[in-house]
Amino acid sequence: MDIARKGPGVGALIPRARLTTTAPRQSLNGTWQFRVHPALAVAPDDYWSGTGEWGSIPVPAHWVLEGHGAPAYTNVRFPFPIDPPNPPDENPIGDYRLVFDADPALAGKAAVLRFDGIESAAEVRLNGHVLGETRGSRLTHEFDVTGKLTATGNVLAVRVAQFSDASYLEDQDMWWLPGIFRDVELVAIPEHGLYDVFVVADYDPAAATGSVRLTLTANDGTPGRATLEVPELSLRAEIDGEATLDAGSVEPWSAENPRLYDATLTTPDERVSLRLGFRRVEVRDSVLLINGAPLQFRGVNRHEHDPSRGRAVPLETARAELELMKRHNINAVRTSHYPPHPGLLDLTDELGLYVILECDLETHGFVEVGWRDNPSDDPAWESAYLDRMQRTVHRDKNHASIVFWSLGNEAGHGANLEAMSAWTKAFDPSRLVHYEHDWDSTYVDVYSRMYATHDEVKNIGEEVLSPAPYGATPAELHRRSLPFIQCEYAHAMGNGPGGLEEYQELFDRYPRLAGGFIWEWIEHAIAVVENGQRRLLYGGDFGEQTHDGNFVTDGLVSADREPRPGLTALAHWFAPVRIEVTEDAIRIENRYALVGLDHLRFVWRDADGAEGTLKVPTVGPGETVEVPAPDGNATLTVEAVLAEATAWAGAGHVVARGQFVRLAPAARPRETTVPDRAAFDPISMRLRTLGGLSFEGPVPSLWRAPTDNDRYPGRDEPDLPPYAERWAEAGIDRVRTRLVTAMNETTFLRTLHRTAPPGRDFAVDADLHWRQVRPDVVLVDVTLTPRGPWPTEWARLGLDLVLPGRPTGLDWDGLGPGPAYPDLAAGTYHGRHHADADELFTNYVRPQESGARRGVRSAAIATSAGGLRVTVVEGGAEEIAVTVSPWSRTALATTLHHHDLVADGNTHVSLDLAQSGLGTATCGVGVLPRYRLPARPGRVSLLLEAWTV
Ligand code: GAL
Repeated sequence: MDIARKGPGVGALIPRARLTTTAPRQSLNGTWQFRVHPALAVAPDDYWSGTGEWGSIPVPAHWVLEGHGAPAYTNVRFPFPIDPPNPPDENPIGDYRLVFDADPALAGKAAVLRFDGIESAAEVRLNGHVLGETRGSRLTHEFDVTGKLTATGNVLAVRVAQFSDASYLEDQDMWWLPGIFRDVELVAIPEHGLYDVFVVADYDPAAATGSVRLTLTANDGTPGRATLEVPELSLRAEIDGEATLDAGSVEPWSAENPRLYDATLTTPDERVSLRLGFRRVEVRDSVLLINGAPLQFRGVNRHEHDPSRGRAVPLETARAELELMKRHNINAVRTSHYPPHPGLLDLTDELGLYVILECDLETHGFVEVGWRDNPSDDPAWESAYLDRMQRTVHRDKNHASIVFWSLGNEAGHGANLEAMSAWTKAFDPSRLVHYEHDWDSTYVDVYSRMYATHDEVKNIGEEVLSPAPYGATPAELHRRSLPFIQCEYAHAMGNGPGGLEEYQELFDRYPRLAGGFIWEWIEHAIAVVENGQRRLLYGGDFGEQTHDGNFVTDGLVSADREPRPGLTALAHWFAPVRIEVTEDAIRIENRYALVGLDHLRFVWRDADGAEGTLKVPTVGPGETVEVPAPDGNATLTVEAVLAEATAWAGAGHVVARGQFVRLAPAARPRETTVPDRAAFDPISMRLRTLGGLSFEGPVPSLWRAPTDNDRYPGRDEPDLPPYAERWAEAGIDRVRTRLVTAMNETTFLRTLHRTAPPGRDFAVDADLHWRQVRPDVVLVDVTLTPRGPWPTEWARLGLDLVLPGRPTGLDWDGLGPGPAYPDLAAGTYHGRHHADADELFTNYVRPQESGARRGVRSAAIATSAGGLRVTVVEGGAEEIAVTVSPWSRTALATTLHHHDLVADGNTHVSLDLAQSGLGTATCGVGVLPRYRLPARPGRVSLLLEAWTV
């Protein structure tokens, strides 16, 4: 086995489409013999013979997740020296062995042995014959086993190298996970069958008709023959090699209406089933079109990940995942950064998701050495590059959902990429070619960027020349003729991402902007069980020397596919319908490209429980209608719901929501007395008991446990330290509060406090006016005033309290049900909400601030010892936020894993008058200026009512 050469694999058949066929097949998934050696040099040559010690392993799986060695995570850097094409000496070698009887339908027949994914390189032997070697971990390899397969006792042996020359081309930001991790199968090749089929189902939007172009290849490589039937179109034709057929009037396929027509190709020996989706993707005047209408990607980047199984993701899991996407108004997937399991494309065709199908290629680590010796521009690697692209395109070429082919990710630039593009365009002109690192956009059909700031996206939308170093170069002029996408934006790491609304607004405003793909769909935490406890781990947790920590957990859903709050906001901005409710009118905007709103019902309800259905006239794509609002409501909620069940959601599923709310502050109690000072701490004059409940606080507070985004400098301020550092430098993470004075006024008790960081002279003064309403109720008027020149914006402006007992739940009247922050509130709505104890926070893998409920007018915080009801009497309720947590902020800020958080038995409560936004500085812009929180005064009046249990 030679794992240090620059070419593609050897011995595999030329790539072809994955066909759904009646040809006999036999799955070889299951339990295989297995053993691992520390390096190739010490791995015995006769691994196929079965001598020596063997254990067992499931196939498909990654051996490092099955108890042999450990996974390792790096983002850009290679975990070994850059010395292409040589892998490191420390290179685990996995030997796999399977003894099996062949299915009678296959034994002695022409057949192929198919591997859908082996990381990173493998030598394959069957019954002593060397079949060849694979390269391209996420690419299919088929070997001809005709004449080599016997009825019983076949010995299949596969030697897998964790690292190989191919590792230089597979430096994606993800775990290194070796092994046979996708299906292994035997497939018969019937004598008069079809080896390959290429079908292009085109749609002519002007005529509303379709056509089918077919190219058939027989097993011997000559043109293939078959009978095509598309019953629904009454289409039947004998195909000899190639044909283009008029399909007449058809319903087109789109993500909005994924109409598929079943078709068959019949030969004497075999029937191949196809699902035809008629559609056309094209560019006109820099605008990306689907079936003649503007196509806006509302997409996500999807890696294949399962917390226990890595990239061996079962198809049922993938299906559930795509349905979850559809329920959140996602219409597109970029398969970052390799072809997914082949079954995924059947699902995207069926459910309706546009796909950018990306080749298994990334050489990002070469950036660390100034791209010296980057394989992308080295002729010795050209055949490896072409092989990768051809395997990618051939396998999936018959899927309607694929609209772009992507050459790979972050592989610099060079002649090999150009060659991939040239081959792809010649082979399949029905789709566009994408690649983000082609800075001049010379060999791509779309201008693609990642994490461009809002300003830059706006300039691109307005078609102004890019700033230096681009300027009016020929490349720039060419680029301006292309549609633009952000193949990655809004980095969903930790609490966030902020800035979604502002990107969406740009995508909606400028026709040339064809939307983008959030980075990323899923967090790649890996689950392990230690001492009976399940733990989610990230880079560095497996003893890696070189790693990139928790940068691998940056998804809209957790590794267990629980939606993060960012997904709720995203669903709002991606919604195909916008509903704007005012006191007297409801505006409904159809944001679909191609379909009307007949599949939706519009239901309304008010705060008192009255409800009804709106009569909405026909609204074509891109149109807006206005209907009168039902009379006299202080709160009116209008929802667009699915009229009937779809493949991805039940009838009644909420697609979009709009709301009108007139916030009325609670009445201020008239009868009050001056509180007894005995209820206050004599030194600090903080309230320490109410209604029998003792607590600490409230004290002014300006800090939050840094989010991941707070720990990175934003692209808009690359020279400034991240906010977490600015806050630590200013000392707002450790402020002290001193009692200035306490005095009895005629009708209230007044306490004045100064809060300031140690060693600093800037401060916040709190002026609190206390009135007793009942023995268990106080009214406090709060005025907060900053003093001195604050050198940094704050995280929050609020009051902290610590209640006895652990939190048991929260009921509130405000935005919900999920958390909301100034730049991440979309998708939450006003109402009475409840959160159980485990819904008060988000279980980010690395602990950080989370869980704020916003727009709160009243909240009842329950603990195991009692509770506190907070009612906002005056003050901007839109901004008031309540955060309830079993952990102190210091605990959240200093603990590295969620499972290591230790609750102190108290309930930590924050009542915020204002908060900073979240931004997306982990990779992208920080908090937009309008959502920042410079030092500012604040005022609020609160009723506090406490009880014990
Ligand atoms: C991009 C890259 C992604 C991921 C992301 C940061 O540069 O394409 O794979 O690394 O940054 O999470």
